[in-house]
Amino acid sequence: MSAIAPAHPANPYSPLPPGSTFTEHDWRLLARQWHPVADSSEVTGAPLQAVLLDEALVVYRVHGEVVVARDVCPHRGVPLSMGSHDGEGVVCPYHGLRFGAGGRCNRIPSSPGQAIPAKLHLATYPTVERYGLVWVCLAPDADNPAPLPVMPHWDQAGFQQINCPPFDINGFAGRQVEGFLDVAHFAWIHTGTFADPANQLVPDYVPVETPTGFTVDYVSNVSNYGVGFHHLAPPDYPWLRHFEVHLPFCASLTIHFPGDERLVIFNCASPVSARRTRLFVPIARNFNLDQPVEEVHAFNLRVFEEDRAMVELQKPERLPLDMTLEAHIPADRSSIAYRRGLKKMGFGEFFLA
Ligand code: FES
Ligand SMILES: [Fe+2]
Repeated sequence: MSAIAPAHPANPYSPLPPGSTFTEHDWRLLARQWHPVADSSEVTGAPLQAVLLDEALVVYRVHGEVVVARDVCPHRGVPLSMGSHDGEGVVCPYHGLRFGAGGRCNRIPSSPGQAIPAKLHLATYPTVERYGLVWVCLAPDADNPAPLPVMPHWDQAGFQQINCPPFDINGFAGRQVEGFLDVAHFAWIHTGTFADPANQLVPDYVPVETPTGFTVDYVSNVSNYGVGFHHLAPPDYPWLRHFEVHLPFCASLTIHFPGDERLVIFNCASPVSARRTRLFVPIARNFNLDQPVEEVHAFNLRVFEEDRAMVELQKPERLPLDMTLEAHIPADRSSIAYRRGLKKMGFGEFFLA
């Protein structure tokens, strides 16, 4: 990856958030990427606060369009997420200035007849709604814009789209994503949900590099049916788990169930800070379409909980990119590919506490 452009005084994105938990180098690299900050369905009337890379954001919708800006009123610095929405925009709770489409100030109640100076408009961030999520890029790189991560099957006919409620983890996004890619922990952590404690073997697999990360086809006989339903798979069914990693913090897992049944779990770890992660998980599937989505939410919540316990305990909290700092076993090929990919993107050893 090319060298990082120095902070430009004219760039509204240049100041690092106060109290940033990232090094400046890593913050700027992460800020070029797309990260999800909210479920689309949550962004309705009242303004919402989200935190991304230690930056507090206000997220609101006006006439259907989502606006994301720093959660600071340009007048006297009150958080706009404390305000209300009157149908034409977000109204600041202090002096009632209102911000509408594109973050433009469209009302100054104390001097309604006066022209509105440009300084009162919000500096907004590029925003995209996709996979039921609101994605934000804090500091786009104009010369080399980051692509939005791709989720397989979401738009395909016959597939149902499900958004699990966001899930908060007191840990670093990199550790969480690495855990999502880790197939050796199934028999240890996920025995209450889908795995078999007696089936601990990890067959060989080979990560294949792609322009945005890598893919892995992992075949084993670990069933993905819930515990108690393993008999549903034909005997010796070879379970294919296809991972697609989009660095730094998104990865999809497509599980090939018997027949043409497919389940896609899109693990999008949003870095609230270096120590907090909000996990967004869009799911697509072409079977069990009559099952209430609440049951899908509940099952996935249990799996995330099983993972969370480990991710929050890991030390160092961050992820060492220097391969010599932790010990590795043959099952770790995905973890190693993940760390190498992050290193290649130019991240420092910021993952080290
Ligand atoms: S601080 Fe927001 S209107 Fe004055
Ligand atoms: Fe797991």
